[in-house]
Amino acid sequence: MDQNELKELVGKEAVKFIKDGMVVGLGTGSTVKFMVDALGDRVKNEGISIIGVPTSDRTADQARSLGITVKSVDEVDHIDLTIDGADEISSDFQGIKGGGAAHLFEKIVATNSTKVMWIVDESKMVDQLGAFPLPLEVIPYGSTQVYKKLEKEGLHPKFRMDADGKHVLTDSKNYVIDLHLGEINHPHELADYLIKQVGIVEQGLFLDMVNTVIVGRQNGPEVLQA
Ligand code: A5P
Repeated sequence: MDQNELKELVGKEAVKFIKDGMVVGLGTGSTVKFMVDALGDRVKNEGISIIGVPTSDRTADQARSLGITVKSVDEVDHIDLTIDGADEISSDFQGIKGGGAAHLFEKIVATNSTKVMWIVDESKMVDQLGAFPLPLEVIPYGSTQVYKKLEKEGLHPKFRMDADGKHVLTDSKNYVIDLHLGEINHPHELADYLIKQVGIVEQGLFLDMVNTVIVGRQNGPEVLQA
């Protein structure tokens, strides 16, 4: 199976955990796209009634197009389960997210969920976090000063730009800075430092947050409990 097939596999596996009547947080990214397709199939074929709480405009548009009822995080009183992708997951179930620039909304939805599940192909499972650049969402105003400070701290920042050389914008119209760290030895300390910097709205370390990880492996989906 290639990477896309592994993503599809875990997407289909994940929706088996969704029960009729649930409020479900819907993450963002190419793996989640398969999951939302599979959820749309269940809504259509089985007539299950669920409410989806999307973490991006992209996911909201896809879910609506498949007939899934969508509400914003501020319109629901609880979220039973959030299913999302990840960019890296370490063996102690800590994660990096934000490769799709959606980590702020993803973290808001995840922290308001009773249970959190990540779905990944096996390439995302790592011994140590940090090879994947750590995304930060930053307010445009003053972002060059934030950048300079991060550079001075030796955190190897880079503004995320699109193919036209323009700043990638989040759904909140903020910028993204990626930290090219190579390895992250003390994720909790780094997360505390980053979130204290004025102008950084959210950082992409998702620590002590996940309950279940489904890994797409060549011999089938592996369900891990954190
Ligand atoms: C979105 O900002 C991210 O957190 C995604 O969940 C993560 O990048 C995984 O995306 P893929 O499923 O596309 O790899």
